[in-house]
Amino acid sequence: MFENLDALAPDPILGISAAFAADPSDSKVDVGVGVYRDDAGQTPVMRAVRIAQARVAELERTKTYLPASGNAAFNAALTELVLGTTHPAVTERRAVTLQTPGGCGALRLAADLVHETAPGTRVALSTPTWPNHPALIGGAGLETVRYPYYDEAARGIDFPALLASLDAMPAGTVILLQPSCHNPTGADLADPQWEELLAVLQRRQLLPLLDLAYQGLGEGLEQDARWVRRLAAELPEVLITVSCSKNFGLYRERVGAVIYTGRSPAEAHAVHTHLMRLARRMYSMPPDHGAATVGVLWADAALRADWQAELDAMRQRLAALRLDLADALGREIPRRDFSFIGRQRGMFSLLGLPPAAVEALRHDHHVYCAPDSRINLAGLNPAAIARVVAAVAAVL
Ligand code: LMR
Repeated sequence: MFENLDALAPDPILGISAAFAADPSDSKVDVGVGVYRDDAGQTPVMRAVRIAQARVAELERTKTYLPASGNAAFNAALTELVLGTTHPAVTERRAVTLQTPGGCGALRLAADLVHETAPGTRVALSTPTWPNHPALIGGAGLETVRYPYYDEAARGIDFPALLASLDAMPAGTVILLQPSCHNPTGADLADPQWEELLAVLQRRQLLPLLDLAYQGLGEGLEQDARWVRRLAAELPEVLITVSCSKNFGLYRERVGAVIYTGRSPAEAHAVHTHLMRLARRMYSMPPDHGAATVGVLWADAALRADWQAELDAMRQRLAALRLDLADALGREIPRRDFSFIGRQRGMFSLLGLPPAAVEALRHDHHVYCAPDSRINLAGLNPAAIARVVAAVAAVL
């Protein structure tokens, strides 16, 4: 059956790690895949996570199946983290949360739900977006379309074009939005822009799919969720996909959730039953360990405070690295404006280099960024900044 399959090229993002690992250079710099790193280049297990998972191991009495909806303590924690405790969808029991294998599992399940309910629905993605978005949504059988987002030349969001595009979408179109730390651009909408966007979503009866993968790494845990909460309060239905990879550092444990807020408890319950059936059909039930760890951490006020302090420090480190890189690039390459890097948020920015320059960065200078010249700021430290700046100056 498979004798005619051609081997595929490596994944555009995950393939960078393999290429980096195979490079024997001792001056190589990995600013590719989006994982948080400290100054020593390590992706540490967060302090509170380490303690919570030891507790899980100690207290665990069974390995029997979770329900298809996942770990109940985790689902309650994530609902509170994303929506807060006083949100009307929570107090009126119009919100349901279902644990998923990572944010990817959440996106696929949300897409499956849309496809099963209304198979002809189109999902609109920003240009550019994370390369796995079209793959996950398309993999569920849905057609994807694009809306303009980032203007490469202006190094910022082309908001009039974005708004005009959404304003022409047919009712019922699903609009995938990233509420904070846009991947790959690092360019986030400002509050007045969200306000206008909300009005268009309402007027055109568009359904937002809010992909929240970096909560806490943009402006703060509460701030990064503010437009998720506002949209869920103002719109009849909202789908939210959540990842705990970055903000809990639980990447390989595959911890995520899909949250739905609807008009009534009955509607939310019905959606929940469909999500469970779709999960059963695909993977039966999610893995427990990472989600149980989040549940234990969340229930302990001291652990939660320590987790938040460590997350705050990660965010502050990213912001400082942004300013340092923007300054260093500006000094070395004064003819080009790199100040946008300092104004953006989260882990990523686009350097704005053509593919040949990205190739040269990798082959001639051992600097590994994504093919679209996206860099992961967390991969930097003072020595790496100097190398990246020298390499960018050389390839330009
Ligand atoms: C990234 O964008 O680098 C991360 O979200 C990791 C991934 O799965 O692509």
